[in-house]
Amino acid sequence: MDAADLEQDLVNVLFTEKQIQDRVGELARDIEVDYSGKDLLMVGILRGAVMVMADMARSFSRHVEMDWMAVSSYGSGTKSSGVVRILKDLDTDISGRHVVIVDEIIDTGLTLSWLTSNLGSRSPASVEICTLLRKPEALQMPIEVKYVGWDIPNEFVVGYGLDYREKYRNLRDIGTLAPHVYS
Ligand code: IMP
Ligand code: MG
Repeated sequence: MDAADLEQDLVNVLFTEKQIQDRVGELARDIEVDYSGKDLLMVGILRGAVMVMADMARSFSRHVEMDWMAVSSYGSGTKSSGVVRILKDLDTDISGRHVVIVDEIIDTGLTLSWLTSNLGSRSPASVEICTLLRKPEALQMPIEVKYVGWDIPNEFVVGYGLDYREKYRNLRDIGTLAPHVYS
């Protein structure tokens, strides 16, 4: 669906479908260069990273393996609970592998900082993070992120995989959710 389908739910469109496609393509090219000659396992974090992963993987002109993890860090609201739990683990043994974690947004950083050390303990050759969005003002943890699409203000955003109570994930663009929707 498009922003026009949502009437008053969005305050603004932050990134259009076209801008997102272009930026995801650029990130894919950076990763291709950095991992040339190396095997690459992309680990997508369900469910938000589905769109980024699908578009990024298809932007590559090389083979790439994909696996998925599901973790819970949020309840059904708009604030991080700080509690991370694995709901679905990897099917792949990552020892000796070059891993890039793919996520759609880093907010407090709690989820990815926990995940990075969890995956780091499984003897991978390397672990890096790729996120489409990051909210620098919301960060509660120092976390090293190699690939970032955009830094954004500390506001709740939806679309392109990002949800509010499981809605808006199938919006093509990324927009700021109007406070009247969640207050
Ligand atoms: P963190 O642990 O606070 O960095 O939160 C990570 C997860 O919270 C993300 O992967 C999203 O699933 C969710 N999240 C954080 N900010 C937003 C937002 O603005 N919109 C939708 N989901 C968000
Ligand atoms: Mg997520």
